[in-house]
Amino acid sequence: MSTIPGTRDILPEEMALWHLIEEQARRVFDLYGYKEIRTPLLEATELFARGIGGDTDIVRKEMYTFTDQGGISMTLRPEATASVVRAYIEHHMYRGGELPQLYYIGPMFRHEKKQKGRWRQFYQIGAEVLGSDDPAVEAEVIEMVLALLQPFKIKVRLLINSVGCAQCRPRYVEILRAELRMAADSLCEDCRRRTETNPLRVLDCKVESCQPVIEQLPRITDHLGEECAQPFLRLKGHLEDAKIGYEVVPRLVRGLDYYIRTAFEIVSGELGAQNALAGGGRYDGLSEILGGPPAKGFGFAMGLDRLVMVLPEEVRASAAKKPEIFLVHLSEPAMRKAMAIARILRGQGSACHLEFDGGSLRSQMRLANKIGARHVLIIGDDELARDRYTIKRMEDSTQWDVSLPELTEYLKSIS
Ligand code: HAM
Repeated sequence: MSTIPGTRDILPEEMALWHLIEEQARRVFDLYGYKEIRTPLLEATELFARGIGGDTDIVRKEMYTFTDQGGISMTLRPEATASVVRAYIEHHMYRGGELPQLYYIGPMFRHEKKQKGRWRQFYQIGAEVLGSDDPAVEAEVIEMVLALLQPFKIKVRLLINSVGCAQCRPRYVEILRAELRMAADSLCEDCRRRTETNPLRVLDCKVESCQPVIEQLPRITDHLGEECAQPFLRLKGHLEDAKIGYEVVPRLVRGLDYYIRTAFEIVSGELGAQNALAGGGRYDGLSEILGGPPAKGFGFAMGLDRLVMVLPEEVRASAAKKPEIFLVHLSEPAMRKAMAIARILRGQGSACHLEFDGGSLRSQMRLANKIGARHVLIIGDDELARDRYTIKRMEDSTQWDVSLPELTEYLKSIS
């Protein structure tokens, strides 16, 4: 038996990298005042069908949907924004006074074609802020994503766009549709269909033969109404204040239908074709689509799997958790003593490792080396009799003799 295509086991060595990222994310969310929310992995299918949009790839062909024993159609969440907005409505968070600022970390599911950086079960770190349409909020969220990435030393680019709103977008969509109809012969089958159902989706098409047509299409940024052009200008101003570099990419429309005005992506050249590390934008109106009160919304999600892929070697090396002390024991009574000492040391916060099938001194020392223990404590029968132990600092091979109180003092002094 093995894992099903598009899923995988994340083994302990790699998990250390995930923890490093997750801890950094929680720290940064905390600094910006965001609180964690956990929503179910299973939601009513209708939530995504309505929320994400019926003509998106996600809803048309990528959802894991089934009918449960009670006859209810359910879907494994392909993203979390719709779920967070559902929770916002369900728990009347709009009554609270302050803006709900929520973050999540967890798995998402999309039945996509397998490709490097693309999984069918993948993980996102994301955040949503509800209740404001101020571009300052957008700039703060973007700043937060970059702050989260900062210690990982990855070269990224910030791409921004405005996808217009219910007032100005229909005009642009008609212009786009007219152009696309004229170029229909050069478009892929999906794009010919999208020309009629949702022409904006054509801008997102990755098919090689469609690219020359897409390059020549009119740009949405030239067709924004004042109500969208002004906030876009203000967003750019806030980014410039924060000295955040950005590129305006008018064909950036994102793969979900709920966006209005600002859309953004953070891309990394090291990811290949699936180069988006994070994406997000504004989704005022999603709450109403889901049966809630009018509500503004802005957020992002970052692909954790992809971030792990591009972590530089120096960051990877720093992630592994190493035991402070490896207790080598050379007889049954020594093992019992080692367990007692480890209990005391762990009680004071030092990570200890004992190998129960340890074998000879040599093989235990080899193992201590392999797992990167910082110290080794040797407990043989002689040491047991004297109640004094040999400690070896692995980094410089210094060795000395300690009693148990001396050992605990030493470990406290270096922690
Ligand atoms: P998204 O662009 O669909 O947006 O996904 C966000 C990120 O999740 C992508 O940039 C990518 O890093 C990662 N991702 C997506 N699909 C896969 C996959 N199959 N395998 C690996 N990683 C993947 C959203 O999901 C929106 N909910 C973001 C958002 C939040 N917008 C507003 N608030």
